[in-house]
Amino acid sequence: MGSDICRLGICGLGTVGSGVLNLLATQTEEIRRKTGTTISLVQIGCRRPHPDCDLSSTAVSKDIFDLARNPDIDILVELIGGTDIAKALVLEAISNGKHVVTANKALIALHGDELFRAAAAAGVQVRYEAAVAGGIPIIKAIREGLVANRIEWLLGIINGTSNFILTEMAREGNHQTFEQVLAGAQRSGYAEADPSLDVEGIDAAHKLTILASLAFGLPLKFDMVVTEGISTLTLDDIRFADELGYRIRHLGIARRKEHPDQTEIELRVHPALIPQAHLLAQVEGVMNAVMVGADAAGGTMYYGPGAGAAPTASAVLADVIDIARGNGSPQQEFTDDTVDAYRILPIEEIESANYLRLGVHDRAGVMARVTTILSNHQVNIEALQQKDVQSSDTQIIILTNRVREGDINNAIDELEALDDLTASVVRIRLVGLPPE
Ligand SMILES: NC(=O)c1ccc[n+]([C@@H]2O[C@H](COP(=O)([O-])OP(=O)(O)OC[C@H]3O[C@@H](n4cnc5c(N)ncnc54)[C@H](OP(=O)(O)O)[C@@H]3O)[C@@H](O)[C@H]2O)c1
Repeated sequence: MGSDICRLGICGLGTVGSGVLNLLATQTEEIRRKTGTTISLVQIGCRRPHPDCDLSSTAVSKDIFDLARNPDIDILVELIGGTDIAKALVLEAISNGKHVVTANKALIALHGDELFRAAAAAGVQVRYEAAVAGGIPIIKAIREGLVANRIEWLLGIINGTSNFILTEMAREGNHQTFEQVLAGAQRSGYAEADPSLDVEGIDAAHKLTILASLAFGLPLKFDMVVTEGISTLTLDDIRFADELGYRIRHLGIARRKEHPDQTEIELRVHPALIPQAHLLAQVEGVMNAVMVGADAAGGTMYYGPGAGAAPTASAVLADVIDIARGNGSPQQEFTDDTVDAYRILPIEEIESANYLRLGVHDRAGVMARVTTILSNHQVNIEALQQKDVQSSDTQIIILTNRVREGDINNAIDELEALDDLTASVVRIRLVGLPPE
């Protein structure tokens, strides 16, 4: 765009939409002074009254598609969430020559390639800084700050709800289970009424998809992300991990491995044991952090609030101002799915060390049966402890060497067929720095 006045339309006046409105109310003059750009809010699209927001000086439409067709709007800000209507809205705005700014990670992870192609054809931009890690400018850091690097890996805590639950479960003296902490998080607004997107890892997978695409120059590969959440973790696992010198965090991991004729990419989100001294072990509550391993810059880390009205609004307006200043055009993302020099590793081929917890009846020979099965599947034991030995049932904690996912899964299947076990085997991967 590169003009002095930027005419904005905002669709959706929920948490983020009202945050953008509030930030505009206080910062418009500051933004003009620093950047020379005046942001003029032309129209708001919302389908119900919002008595908490001052809408007296802006046109309001109940039909958000009015904004996509309004010739006086240069940039449409999509903050309604969801994927179906949001996609139709964004495509309509693009076809009418508007730039789009969105905070919608699901929309970008699932439909981004189609939207980017449409934007490139129309000569406009789709920007989405707010979609990953809220107030942290991680998209800008990867896209611009580290653009001269080959990025080797990304490792991050990118779901604040999961991190809040895990740090609460581990808090000294708390002793609350996953379900108890989740219920408290829902009461205090840190978790949604339907928490499944967060606690089953899907939200983190959306964000990792976006980060990996930018970092490695790939089309968006949401359906290839190995996705596990935190809903099955127990207080026992948190306590045993602590005794072994680890913390449990829900991580997003993207890694590339070069071979002479091909690059292999790992994409996974899952809970992990990380050493207590690891920087990410210090990230607590709803905070987010992303570490990036790059060949020239080395390791860098980005930390801050991953959600909330004001941090997310800050990222939304940064994109708006970037477009208004004429930065970043044309659309740059990687939508060419013919890139065959990359192979996304299937889950069976991923390698990691593991924490195993086995509930077993305390019978003669049980330890020998367990260790024989592991060794038959090339799983070496790095450490082994027996817990709760005074009871007739006991728990065996095992740390394994690095082993292929396929081998450890076969070993677990065979262990679970033993009638010595009192419950399914709990398996949590170990992750170091750099992630391996
Ligand atoms: N909250 C955060 O901290 C955060 C952080 C980063 C990214 N995001 C992303 O930002 C987006 C918005 O999140 P949010 O937390 O602001 O959600 P929210 O509080 O639920 O707000 C969404 C708003 O959009 C409105 N809306 C939905 N469909 C509409 C339609 N067809 N026509 C008119 N209005 C419609 C809703 O109206 P009703 O109230 O009438 O349903 C609601 O006011 C999502 O994509 C989310 O993933 C959020």
